[in-house]
Amino acid sequence: MEHRGRIFFLLVAMVFLGTEAFGDGDGPLVLDYYKEKCPLLEEIVRHNVEVAVFKDPRMAASLLRLHFHDCFVMGCDASVLLDSYGGITSEKQAGPNINSLRGFEVIDEIKYLLEEACPGTVSCADILALAARDSVASRGGPSWNVWLGRRDSLEASFSGANQFIPAPNSSLETLIANFKQQGLDIGDLVTLSGSHTMGKARCLSFRQRVYDVNFRGEYELYDKYRRFTSFRRILRSICPKSGRNNDLAPLDFMTPARFDNHYYVNLLQGKGLLGSDTVLVTQDHQGEILKQVWAYATDEKLFFASFANSMVKMGNINPITANQGEIRKNCRFVNT
Ligand code: HEM
Ligand SMILES: *[C@@H]1O[C@H](CO)[C@@H](O)[C@H](O)[C@H]1NC(C)=O
Repeated sequence: MEHRGRIFFLLVAMVFLGTEAFGDGDGPLVLDYYKEKCPLLEEIVRHNVEVAVFKDPRMAASLLRLHFHDCFVMGCDASVLLDSYGGITSEKQAGPNINSLRGFEVIDEIKYLLEEACPGTVSCADILALAARDSVASRGGPSWNVWLGRRDSLEASFSGANQFIPAPNSSLETLIANFKQQGLDIGDLVTLSGSHTMGKARCLSFRQRVYDVNFRGEYELYDKYRRFTSFRRILRSICPKSGRNNDLAPLDFMTPARFDNHYYVNLLQGKGLLGSDTVLVTQDHQGEILKQVWAYATDEKLFFASFANSMVKMGNINPITANQGEIRKNCRFVNT
């Protein structure tokens, strides 16, 4: 009972702090932005995300990642959705995105329906934020209120996509600095990395971590338990030293299809797939991250509440509002 009470208090405190930090008018985004202008918006997005995820379960992961890759480059402004055209070089061609980002057709379909229901009203950036939320919920994860009113950029940043999206072989220090640049702290880094509880990665993305036997201090940490050897053997069978770059492995080996806290259980067992997952435990010299990982691994409710909170924070990175940018008619192109 006492434990429950404490969690309840924590949730109330988080909702309260969330409201304070983002809101009710003083921040640029608002909760009821489309209430009058497009009342069916949330229903249309949710329904179409559910259909897409039903057809292809991995789509939930892909849509979540799209919002992340949007927000980390010039803010959450749908810059990631622009195709190369005219003066624009698409972010889709950048290193972290090419042959990797997916879900664009799902966003196109939702946008098409919204242009029928409420023409020229809903931004592609807001669609991404809602689709990310509904994707998480569709796989058993938490839900949260999405603050709305983002507008769409008039440009893309190919170089920004290469610069600001973290690489899977980054050191912990680099990851922390990368998130800090976006106004996100170490807690957000650990919490949002929990997104790797669903979806897949290519051999290319985890080869270094699998063949470098002491990848960023892993050997010292896990050798005494000899836990990493069989895991590595499996990964090496999927991902040879060279070739098969696009072969896939699940980011969460235990429950790849569910949004749950098993990502953190995996980390404690040395079974994070990416280098960036691994370093959260191998390079955490202060032990603060390890505490957070333990807390999430043993308390899914705590992880869910924190995840919702950090997603709202990520969704608030530099939105463009008022008369900046535009509401695109087609998410792939700026309006003519
Ligand atoms: C901490 C820094 C992060 C790094 C270095 C990173 C890196 C990666 C890489 C390399 C992949 C596999 C891509 C491929 O091989 O095709 C991936 C997949 C994924 N990432 Fe991250 N990521 C990070 C943080 C995040 C965050 C903050 C989110 C969401 C809020 C996220 C969501 C996902 C999802 C859902 C997938 C699976 C996508 C799919 O199956 O289509 N990641 N990430
Ligand atoms: C990370 O991977 C990239 C691309 O494979 C490579 O060029 C780079 O040297 C690697 N960085 C580190 C620090 O290992």
